[in-house]
This record gives sequence, structure tokens and C-alpha cells, in this order.
Amino acid sequence: MGRHEGIPRRDVRVRRIRFSYPQGSLQRHYVDGDLVMSHVVAVLSATFPPGEDFFVRSVRRYADDITDPVLREQVKGFIGQEVTHGREHRELNRRLQEMGYPTHRVSRFVKWTLADATKRAPGRLCLAYTAALEHYTATIAECLLSKPEAQRLLGNTEVRSILLWHALEETEDKAVAFDVYRAVGGSERMRRWGFRIQSVGLLGLVLVATLLSMLGDRSTYNPVRLGRSLLALRHSPFLQRDVVAQLRDYTREGFHPDDHDNTELLERWTTELFGPEGTLVDHLH
Ligand SMILES: [Fe+2]
Ligand SMILES: [Fe+2]
Repeated sequence: MGRHEGIPRRDVRVRRIRFSYPQGSLQRHYVDGDLVMSHVVAVLSATFPPGEDFFVRSVRRYADDITDPVLREQVKGFIGQEVTHGREHRELNRRLQEMGYPTHRVSRFVKWTLADATKRAPGRLCLAYTAALEHYTATIAECLLSKPEAQRLLGNTEVRSILLWHALEETEDKAVAFDVYRAVGGSERMRRWGFRIQSVGLLGLVLVATLLSMLGDRSTYNPVRLGRSLLALRHSPFLQRDVVAQLRDYTREGFHPDDHDNTELLERWTTELFGPEGTLVDHLH
């Protein structure tokens, strides 16, 4: 266990926040005009609400077994945050559906597979899945918050705002499901297997759903636009080696999410978004 004995005191707070997407405020390819990335972000956004429902179910099942008072508070914050993410992404998904993205169908599929997992898989395995998927969201979040070129990719719309807020909170709560898994005696073996299984599931889902989503978009059949967008992927800040290495790190024996210290990143973005001059203060209610 070493240096991770005892849960570090990290504030996982629930913010009351709302995002809105008035008619006409988003172009069809709302991620900076890019074809593939617009579909990928739509697919990810569609997986969040049912995914987050699953996280909440999995963690809540053990909430009463947690004795550490710090972790108990963090669990409350985690549940509040994930419920809010789900609610706000549903709103975005409705808008994307109107714009022609099949977000409802993707959400329904994910909801169905995860309901099945809850029904069939042991509680600890569901927690292992949750911790694994939280490692994915935390890694993507860190990439977004730490690389200016990743932020630039998002353009300047309300989608950028919701993703920055979500990334900040994913960084805040990244260790909670993991610590619950450890607290209830989850093994290293199951944790690593949970990660492998979810990696295959998540990457497969994103690949297939993005492909199907793109088939329903006329721009996909424009070879110049498609080619340009596919070529841009090679330089995508999300698909670089450092990101892959960070994802893989999860399978290391003894890994803990706090091995990647994000304190400074968190402080910077909390001020940037929610400080006295924060760009999202007007979204709080
Ligand atoms: Fe979330
Ligand atoms: Fe999370």
C-alpha cells in the first residue's frame, strides 16, 4: 500500500451548473468544423449518461460499507458530480440528435449493455469496471486540460464549455471509485482484468458507433473532407504516445490514480473556470 494508506483529502464538490445550446448555435460539425471529431465527441457524449448511471449504481451499492470518513464524503461528491454530468450531457445529446447524430441510439445500446453487467456481474467487478472507465475519462480529461492544442481543437462553442467543466470534475473525482474498490477488498487481478475487458468494450464501441454515425452524414461521402479529417487524426493530441502510455499505466501492479499528480492542473482550471473572473461562473445557478 505504501504512500496511499489513508485517503488524501481532496474536495469533490458538486456544482449546480447548466449549459444551453440555443437553436442555430452549433454548426453540423461543431468540433471546429472537423468531420470525424464531431462524430467521436457525439458518440462519447452519448455514452456518458448511461455510463455515469452505471458508475453511480456500482459505487452506491457499497456506500454503506465505507468506514473512512474522508472517502464517505468523496463518495457523496462523486455521485452528485456524475449525476450532474449525466443530466447535462443528456441535454447536449438531445441537441446533437436534432442535428442528425444518432446519440439516442448509442445511449440506448450502452444503457442495455451496462444494465446487463449490473444484473450479471459481481458487485466488485462492476466497481473494477467503474474504476477502469474512470481512468479513461481522467486520462482524456488530463490531455484536454494540459494540452493547448487539444483545447484549440474544441473551437469556441458551448460544447467546449461543457467538456472543460466535465474534464475538471473528472480530474477531481478520478480516484474515488478506485479507492472504494480498494476499500471493499477488490483484488489487483480483478482490477487489471476489469480494465482489459472495458478497454476492448470501449474502444470497440467508439469505433463501431463512430463509423455508423458517419455513414449517416453526407459529408462523409465527400472524399476531400473525409481525407482531410482522417489525416488530421494522426496529429490529434488525444492519440499520441503519452496518452496511450498513461492509459496502459493502469495495468501496472500497485497503480493508483494519484500517481499522476494533478494538483496544479486542478488549481489552474478551477480558477480559470470558476474563480472570481471564471469563464463559467455565469453558468452556475
Ligand atoms: Fe462524469
Ligand atoms: Fe468521474
